[in-house]
Amino acid sequence: MVLLLQAVVTTVSLLWSVRVTDAMPDPVQRELLMRQETSRQTGGRVTLTPAEQKLDAHLHRLKEQEMSAAQFLPAIHFFKAKPLIEKSSIFKLLQEMPKGAALHIHSSTLVNVEWLVKNITYRPNCYICFTWDNSVRFFFSDRQPFPRWDCFYWQLLQTLRAKIRDPTLFDNSLMQHLTLFTEDPEGAYPNQDVVWQKFEKAFIATAGLITHAPVLREYFYKGLGELLHDNIMYLELRSGLSRTYELDGTIHDKVWTVKMFQEVTKKFTEDHPDFLGARIIISVHRALGVSDVKAAVKEAIQLQKDFPDVVAGFDMVGREDSGRTLWFFREALSLPAELGVTLPYFFHAGETDDEGTAVDQNILDALLFNTTRIGHGYALAHHPLAKELSRKRNVAVELCPISNQVLKLVSDLRNHPAAVLMSEGHPMVISSDDPSMFGTTGLVYDFYQAFVGIGGLKANLGTLKELAANSIRFSSLPAHLKETGLAMWQKKWDAFIVDHS
Ligand SMILES: *[C@@H]1O[C@H](CO)[C@@H](O)[C@H](O)[C@H]1NC(C)=O
Ligand SMILES: *[C@@H]1O[C@H](CO)[C@@H](O)[C@H](O)[C@H]1NC(C)=O
Ligand SMILES: [Zn+2]
Repeated sequence: MVLLLQAVVTTVSLLWSVRVTDAMPDPVQRELLMRQETSRQTGGRVTLTPAEQKLDAHLHRLKEQEMSAAQFLPAIHFFKAKPLIEKSSIFKLLQEMPKGAALHIHSSTLVNVEWLVKNITYRPNCYICFTWDNSVRFFFSDRQPFPRWDCFYWQLLQTLRAKIRDPTLFDNSLMQHLTLFTEDPEGAYPNQDVVWQKFEKAFIATAGLITHAPVLREYFYKGLGELLHDNIMYLELRSGLSRTYELDGTIHDKVWTVKMFQEVTKKFTEDHPDFLGARIIISVHRALGVSDVKAAVKEAIQLQKDFPDVVAGFDMVGREDSGRTLWFFREALSLPAELGVTLPYFFHAGETDDEGTAVDQNILDALLFNTTRIGHGYALAHHPLAKELSRKRNVAVELCPISNQVLKLVSDLRNHPAAVLMSEGHPMVISSDDPSMFGTTGLVYDFYQAFVGIGGLKANLGTLKELAANSIRFSSLPAHLKETGLAMWQKKWDAFIVDHS
């Protein structure tokens, strides 16, 4: 209130020299309305300390500079903007900012592909096969693998590499199979169908590497390390819990994977006490039939009962536009309520620009099935009733700006519908969806896009503070761990402010 009065006084004195006529809107009233409007945005009610105000003013100046530069980076395709973003002073600050939790990342895309190619594929017993549709498969085995329908000829990578003249070129070509990243995104991906096709192919190519049990163990640990490096302290990972295999062909089931994830998380938090932990959201593909999803829901109920500190809940994944709707699976998704048990849902919904279609109803259906958060919610701004419900029930949207741009829902991020949600202070967290596919790591790139591109000049340090704190508040953690997490985060945040003001 004091600040407000001060501002009003300054404004009035500035206007002293201007002739105010009766016909002119009242400048004091105007100033008040502007402030009221800003107070509605994400972080609009956050009170900044004097030190925070200093950093905020600095950020504001930096943002003004970036917005008036010849190239506005959030308007450019991320694959081209990435090296420029990395030079931005705002980006560098965001790297160091304690970001709280990553609540929307898929397990097959957690770790950068360079490590997979340069480290994992160099290990002994790694076989490769080139498929007819210009993709690759990997398989670790202590003997020559059997031909499969998609793979007739397996070669030992060690033998193949010995014959290759340019290993760097070869490794780069392998990486190309595991990511969407390319220097010519517009040429390579003319439309959503093409980019999704490549996306799904890359998932399949990665699978043989990371479902090898010993690799997956290291992979999780490495993934947590990448997050910690980006000043993230907690993860909720979407995972299908694919079966894993050993060199001799032994297969492990889902329980094995959950236990292993639990062990790795425990080891990691012991090694890094400023990391809070990680949980899994069991994810099932929307291409399955109702009876398969029913079985998956039952299995998830059991896993959540047996591992309540690891399994957070359930989600359906895969491209919404070409997949089956939540309503299609209504019988399966009603099972927990029918059985009188709770299985928290974390549905992807509204990752579409096909307004008015059956797929577009996923948002409302997600809410009707009591989803805890909404993955993407790109379409939410077009659904006033669903938006109201989500706000009233504190169902946060998981905003993944770079994913939406790369998968071609929006090209200039200033036009992202979440700009509306942010200006209204809709419950929201920032996440990165598929970091290795987009060539990102952690959350910093997505924070940059949300803060600079979607939020525009009015997004401020309060916005960042609220978004980071939101990630703990809207997590699946029980109340006491949320408190612990928020206290841990606040301590890191205060240190960050001291370092930068
Ligand atoms: C491979 O990755 C592991 C795990 O991060 C690391 O300990 C090891 O040093 C790496 N090996 C090579 C050859 O880079
Ligand atoms: C959603 O929550 C409401 C209110 O708690 C409950 O009555 C309803 O059965 C739930 N629906 C489902 C599908 O779980
Ligand atoms: Zn996703």
